[in-house]
Amino acid sequence: MSVFVVDGGKRLSGEVKVQGSKNSTLPILAATLLCGGESVLFNCPRLSDVEASLDILRYIGCKAKREDGTVIVDTGSLSRSEIPSQLMHRMRSSIIFLGAMVARFDRVRMTFPGGCELGPRPIDLHLSALRQMGVDINEEHGVLDCSIDDCLHGADISLPIPSVGATENIMIAAATARGTTTVSNAAREPEIVDLADFLNACGARISGAGGSTVVIEGTSDLHPASHSIIPDRIVAATLMSAAAVTGSDVRFTGVVPSHLESVLPVFRDSGCYIDISGDGLRLSAPYRLTAPKLIRTMPYPGFPTDAQAPIMSMAAVADGMTVFVENMFLSRYSHVSELCRLGANIRVEGKVAVVDGVRRLLSAEVTAHDLRGAAALVVAALCADGESRIRGIEYLERGYEDMELVLSSLGADIKKI
Ligand code: EPZ
Repeated sequence: MSVFVVDGGKRLSGEVKVQGSKNSTLPILAATLLCGGESVLFNCPRLSDVEASLDILRYIGCKAKREDGTVIVDTGSLSRSEIPSQLMHRMRSSIIFLGAMVARFDRVRMTFPGGCELGPRPIDLHLSALRQMGVDINEEHGVLDCSIDDCLHGADISLPIPSVGATENIMIAAATARGTTTVSNAAREPEIVDLADFLNACGARISGAGGSTVVIEGTSDLHPASHSIIPDRIVAATLMSAAAVTGSDVRFTGVVPSHLESVLPVFRDSGCYIDISGDGLRLSAPYRLTAPKLIRTMPYPGFPTDAQAPIMSMAAVADGMTVFVENMFLSRYSHVSELCRLGANIRVEGKVAVVDGVRRLLSAEVTAHDLRGAAALVVAALCADGESRIRGIEYLERGYEDMELVLSSLGADIKKI
């Protein structure tokens, strides 16, 4: 188990380029299966979840290689139509391969991706949508046995929840299905737009991505394309939290400010000065943050659930009380008990967490239990007096590229052992 050792209390300074988006890379890697030939993806972050996706691509017969931040996928030798459990279980979002697999094969077998640290991760919306598109899906003993008797065809699909993954699976399956597919109450995340941009670059005909209704006109075949992955807005929010809690002045490049519209007001309300220019933004934090009062996580463009944990570390040391309402996942407060070990004053009641800001956190030994919770512990340790040790850094490496190097480059005293 990897451990971070952080000697807190150091101010940060300098400039950092934000990595490419994990949640954009994963569906686009799956979408490359629709294109026979070699697709090139720039700005791909080096993450364990991305490696897990590349291993799935290799297992089913594709060639996938990385040259620094560029990933090249050649699907010309795609051959296997089943993905075994050991590959499906390495990453919760491996379900994102389902739409692409049923678009290429008449018979597909995949194991359920299973739950994760955030609680149950149902896929009923994915399955009901694909069934409407002509996929016969038998769910038994944790295995999805999919077959298409006639053909994959368009459908009018209305999502009861604007599910990101379900929207992505439908877009991918519909891109080469017969006829037109309409998705109502679609997810509106920037990662949905990035996926649509990639698919359209491959010759798909997708319109409305980023809005609540997405229309996909099926086309017979798609060709490979080159595409640059959008910056990771959650990593940006996390690094901004690190600058905020350490009273720092840091410049972030490679961000898309419009992707952070629901997050920037929280930093400003906390007393941070944000200056936006071109593809970057500068954050300069006050000596003591003001509590942001109320944070409700919502589907995009609302406040992102993935930023709840790192922002809670900010609230933990702010002046005043912050109420968090986590509306997206049942158990996304695993970082709370660990933040309390660092001296935070937080009470949880169901989906509500009440944070009473304290002046200083105190170093401690803490353990991460999920990806964004791990990020929250790193942010908190940066402003805790003394040396903290954070276990479970494997969770962090699912979504944050070289976090200790990034923070060290800004002046943090952080080591991985
Ligand atoms: C995506 O997960 C992200 N993952 C998550 O980021 C993110 O937290 C989430 O969207 C919400 O923004 C990737 O993009 C790889 P959903 P996803 O389907 O697609 C329920 C991170 O930290 N639901 O939008 O799985 C579900 O239980 C990860 O990077 C169903 O009920 O999320 C949840 O309550 C964590 N049935 C809500 O919808 C379904 O079939 C939103 O989930 C699907 C989802």
